[in-house]
Amino acid sequence: MENEEQKTRLRDLLNDEETLKNLDAFVRMNLLYEAAMKVMNAKLEILQREYSMAHGYNPIHSVESRLKTPKSIAGKLRRKNLPLSIEAVRRNLKDVAGMRIICNYKNDVYTIADVLKRHLDLSVVEEKDYIANPKENGYRSYHLVLTVPVYFSNATETVPVEIQIRTIAMDFWASLEHKLRYKKDGKMSYDLQQRLKASAEITDKLDEEMQNINLAINDLE
Ligand code: GTP
Ligand code: MG
Repeated sequence: MENEEQKTRLRDLLNDEETLKNLDAFVRMNLLYEAAMKVMNAKLEILQREYSMAHGYNPIHSVESRLKTPKSIAGKLRRKNLPLSIEAVRRNLKDVAGMRIICNYKNDVYTIADVLKRHLDLSVVEEKDYIANPKENGYRSYHLVLTVPVYFSNATETVPVEIQIRTIAMDFWASLEHKLRYKKDGKMSYDLQQRLKASAEITDKLDEEMQNINLAINDLE
């Protein structure tokens, strides 16, 4: 019985003109960000194939992408005191589409960032080098927000994609730090924060040394 009631309520809700319009606009917005990530994924796939052919080496270890969930979009709009609307998302949020490019070595991170910045159809709207300037907690990564043109039947949209480029070691560190961020125990976490910060320095030294060894191996023949 309860189920039947729920079904009826849902049917009424979905028949409401306003809700249908909002739902439609939301689906269209999602399509836009998904399309932008597909364009970026295609670019990265071509880059990896071509780079391997030209240099016998692929600077990209792996690529991850994600679309921000409606819940997380709503949370961010609320934190920024913005209205819960698609227009507010389009105007203010640059990380609805997010991609992470993981590289083996630090110099690969800069290679990838430079190559992407040279794509004529992409524009840089934000750039943060947290490798040259690590965050206070030790976080390192290269952040780019690029806009990607997406061609629809009746319009061309310019869609932002947030791209984080980092080494395997930086990614390993960031996932552990992210885990700590969601814990509430402040006292214990202070000690863990310090240890994480020290680990970030060790991670950076490891990145440097692995890169140097790799370069030295390349020089052997
Ligand atoms: P918003 O764009 O408003 O979120 O803030 P912002 O532009 O200052 O963010 P920033 O470019 O510094 O970081 C964006 C993303 O990078 C975050 O959503 C995280 O995924 C990642 N990030 C930034 N700082 C840290 C950090 O200290 N630790 C971890 N684990 N990830 C981070
Ligand atoms: Mg940002």
